Amino acid sequence: MTASISASLLAWYDRNARDLPWRVPPGAALPDDPEWPYRVWLSEVMLQQTTVAAVKPYFAKFTSLWPSVAALAAAPEEDVMAAWAGLGYYSRARNLVKCARAVAERGGFPSTEAELRGLPGLGDYTAAAVAAIAFGRRAVVIDANVERVVARLFAIGEPLPQARKAIRAAAGSITPESRSGDFAQGLMDLGSHICTTRSPRCLLCPLAESCEGRKAGEPERLPVKPAKKAVPERRGTAFWITRDQGSEVWLVTRPGEGMLGGMRALPDDGWSARADGSGEVPLDGAWRSMGAVRHGFTHASLTLELLALETGAPPQGEGQWWPVERIGEAGLATLFAKAAALALAAG
Ligand code: ADE
Repeated sequence: MTASISASLLAWYDRNARDLPWRVPPGAALPDDPEWPYRVWLSEVMLQQTTVAAVKPYFAKFTSLWPSVAALAAAPEEDVMAAWAGLGYYSRARNLVKCARAVAERGGFPSTEAELRGLPGLGDYTAAAVAAIAFGRRAVVIDANVERVVARLFAIGEPLPQARKAIRAAAGSITPESRSGDFAQGLMDLGSHICTTRSPRCLLCPLAESCEGRKAGEPERLPVKPAKKAVPERRGTAFWITRDQGSEVWLVTRPGEGMLGGMRALPDDGWSARADGSGEVPLDGAWRSMGAVRHGFTHASLTLELLALETGAPPQGEGQWWPVERIGEAGLATLFAKAAALALAAG
């Protein structure tokens, strides 16, 4: 039965695989291109917690700016952070640079899952995905789509995250020796198109006959999610400080490894470092309030107020004057891009 599951899934993938810029057609040999593992790795890092549609333009931009892992390794970190702006989860971009440098140093990507896991920023998922998709190794690749398909197929009713052990064992039991990259991507495509979170389209599913979740009824109930924790509400203030009649704005680079670390940003009151989100900056007469933007992070919902000031002197601390008409090229994270849009709309 497990062999028939993988055969049915691969046959379905052969007919229905999405044509994506980081893929080869189903069943094709691994490309004879030294940068193939780089492309697979880059796409898999970008695709974590991010949709295929959102990733496509970033993948195109990165592979055109840095066509090889050596080129990415040689890039200044701030350029990579700026190119990543808008994709979110910025620690991925910092790790991307670290990993590219480690790979360039050792002369290429290793091909086994265990060695891949030793590279900076490569967790279980990425190591397995690269081993399977880039190198054709058998590996059990589990992302959220695969997790959902497998939990339903085997009717695993334990709640997440405890269910992950059983899901991994079940996924391992159906992963074939060959074509495990196609198999993994087939499960991902099935999860995103057929075995969807709500209203799964079981009538179109190649695995419906084997699906214990469907037989038990209500497959959409699986996997059982843990109760959602409420995310804290936080408030902060950012500053739109301009000179020359608003033609240049003061930007800073956020420090190190913290929240949005290494990204160019508007200066702020330190909201991201404060545990309680308190500490408003007093409004004296020179500041103008421009309203507020809201942004959801995984760990908090933030309301960021924006205060504007036109000044002659540069503010204290490190930063740079940036032409407002080129603000789109500053590589601001989405939160600060929203704040900049608010300032520009307010005029
Ligand atoms: N999500 C993560 N990796 C993916 C891949 N290789 N194809 C489609 N969706 C994905």
